Amino acid sequence: MIDLHCHLLPGIDDGPATPRETLRLCRLAVADGITHAITTPHIHPGRWHNTKATIAKDCRKLQRALAKRNIPLQVGFAAEVRLTDEIMQQVESDEIPFYGEVDGYHIMLLEFPHGQIIPGSDKLVRWLLQRRIRPLIAHPERNKQVMKDPTQLTPFIKAGCWLQLTAGSVTGNFGERAQTVARQLLDEDVVAVLASDGHNSGARRPALAEAFEYITEHYGGSRAKRLMLHNPATIAASQFQTEAQAPC
Ligand SMILES: [Fe+2]
Repeated sequence: MIDLHCHLLPGIDDGPATPRETLRLCRLAVADGITHAITTPHIHPGRWHNTKATIAKDCRKLQRALAKRNIPLQVGFAAEVRLTDEIMQQVESDEIPFYGEVDGYHIMLLEFPHGQIIPGSDKLVRWLLQRRIRPLIAHPERNKQVMKDPTQLTPFIKAGCWLQLTAGSVTGNFGERAQTVARQLLDEDVVAVLASDGHNSGARRPALAEAFEYITEHYGGSRAKRLMLHNPATIAASQFQTEAQAPC
């Protein structure tokens, strides 16, 4: 499986604090059946000051550490970009790392604030799309406003955004409401990707296998492969050379 949203780099956001913890997370991901991971540190002005250049440097360090220890996890990088007014400036100064390109659009992991969808977000999304940047919206099922009213997502889907659910939401780790909304979005078949959003080796592990099993049982094996293998492989194709596998 391919995990398109996880926090693996040490000491640069609320993911692992040390290189040792990073390697622990990578081993957990491998044990769970993840062969490829795109680490997505937060870019959040005023909180996490990461840029494409700094993330790239840390990711190369991690790739070397994994190779040295023969840990069979291919890693690449993008970022979880908080939706703020500063995105326009960040895009123009080329500070945002994208996953890769699909049908002429760069794919960007975009995070709404947890409590709400800020008025004007639709305009910002259209501004991105006009520049051929397609937002992959991170865990909309955990946004309080979407939890209250999932139709709040409709304008974003219609505009051309893709959706990424957190694997743990689907299996109930983020509460009943997040699970209900996640299932509703799966029922409507408007989800592009399931990812772990793993942060640590405790309750927020980089793990997908349980969700893969759940999706297989409720929506079929081909849906599980589409969400956790084929779509992620297409989105991050330029970052990986070796082929990912589904658990069997
Ligand atoms: Fe995240």
